[in-house]
Amino acid sequence: MAAPFYVVGEVMAKGKTSTVFFCQECGYESSKWMGQCPGCHQWNTFVEETVVSGTQGKSSMQRNSSPAGKPLTLTEISLDEEDRLTTHSTELDRVLGGGLVRGSLTLVGGDPGIGKSTLLLQVCRMLAQDKREVLYVSGEESLKQIKIRANRIGEFNEHLKLLCETSLGTIEETIRRSKPDVVVIDSIQTMYNENISSAPGSVSQVREATGVFLQLAKGLNISVFIVGHVTKEGTVAGPRVLEHMVDAVLYFEGDRHASYRILRGVKNRFGSTNEIGVFEMASDGLREVENPSEFMLSGKPEQASGSIVVCSMEGTRPMLVEIQALVCHSSFGIPRRQTTGTDFNRVNLLIAVLEKRLGLQMGGCDAYVNIAGGIRIQEPAIDLGIVMALVSSFKNKIIDEKMIALGEVGLSGEVRGVGMIQARVQEARKLGFTTCVIPKVTMDAVKDISGIKVIGVSSVADAIDLL
Ligand code: TYD
Ligand code: MG
Repeated sequence: MAAPFYVVGEVMAKGKTSTVFFCQECGYESSKWMGQCPGCHQWNTFVEETVVSGTQGKSSMQRNSSPAGKPLTLTEISLDEEDRLTTHSTELDRVLGGGLVRGSLTLVGGDPGIGKSTLLLQVCRMLAQDKREVLYVSGEESLKQIKIRANRIGEFNEHLKLLCETSLGTIEETIRRSKPDVVVIDSIQTMYNENISSAPGSVSQVREATGVFLQLAKGLNISVFIVGHVTKEGTVAGPRVLEHMVDAVLYFEGDRHASYRILRGVKNRFGSTNEIGVFEMASDGLREVENPSEFMLSGKPEQASGSIVVCSMEGTRPMLVEIQALVCHSSFGIPRRQTTGTDFNRVNLLIAVLEKRLGLQMGGCDAYVNIAGGIRIQEPAIDLGIVMALVSSFKNKIIDEKMIALGEVGLSGEVRGVGMIQARVQEARKLGFTTCVIPKVTMDAVKDISGIKVIGVSSVADAIDLL
């Protein structure tokens, strides 16, 4: 390729701006293009962007210059209850760690169309009913479109104000002028600063915009929600690059074809992570699912082999889900193994344990494992359930439908203990299960629980004998 020619004037003009390369995954900055990012080791993630030197530097300098003040000791800092606002959604409050913290910046990520705008509009409605001033800034939809959505959700009062705007300067000015309690930015990828030449959604724009909202949140004590789209690849910067800038990161996930949605906290400076909130998308917006176990078990087949219920902990909350396995004779040389909702390698490992420790000849069989309901579970506590479902399908023996199984399976075929066994057994009892198979080592912890038969097993073989 021939080297490009520059006219002198062009070179001079270039003095003010410079191009840098950003990794779209982690935001790593480099002066030249690289195939693999040294930061996150992803391939082909670098994009070239023009930055105006000066503006970016200046704004980040302003951000760091806090007003001069004297350092305080911990005892001098007072915490009042008012620092948390309730969103009137128990699910969301729990994920946030007990309510919305004043002056916090929360990122809500998720695939397009999953229901982020709907959730936040509902939150705005509840906060406005508490007489909090709420500003909803949309850069994606027109005011009419928002009104159509709002009509489906319900009545709104005058404490909620809407703004259709994408210019950062205008939004910042509006917020500084009206000083609302809560601001929603939908979405961060549409916001742009005119002084930066790259397109909205690019890494530098997204970072700049987040920086501005961070400053507003902390400076004016406003709680800010920012919506971020997660794209698989392409030119739009994923919100991954902002995860380190914000106080809390919530991911809204779920199968778009299934009606339930899960809000998962993956980072939270004010509470525990791994809490989940379960919602159901209905014709009038998102509804909270108070009893996710019941929801997940609806439609469970009766008298079918290869099906068992397990209990997984999502944060502090136990959730019962059904594991299904199908083991059938393979018509090809290499048997097929497939998993949905759980770790593929883990299932292969469990099948190997069954072959070696129990002598089950599954080498010539296809095996499919599915967690019903489309939820994803990685917890090893469901190992025993997977094993029992596999054997049940292999031997074509029906498992008692009022039985649940819990336990981690080790490579020697031993059943190891799992945490929070009491909460899990109690959840099973609450939903009408009569038998609970648990690791023998945890038997002591559940001896006070009555109303459910608890069986302790120390190896996979013991558990299989129950079938
Ligand atoms: P939306 O909140 O716009 O998703 P996002 O902001 O994450 O892109 O809405 C997602 C979907 O939800 C949309 O396809 C329509 C559907 N929906 C309902 O089923 N019921 C409702 O009451 C509303 C408002 C939306
Ligand atoms: Mg939206």
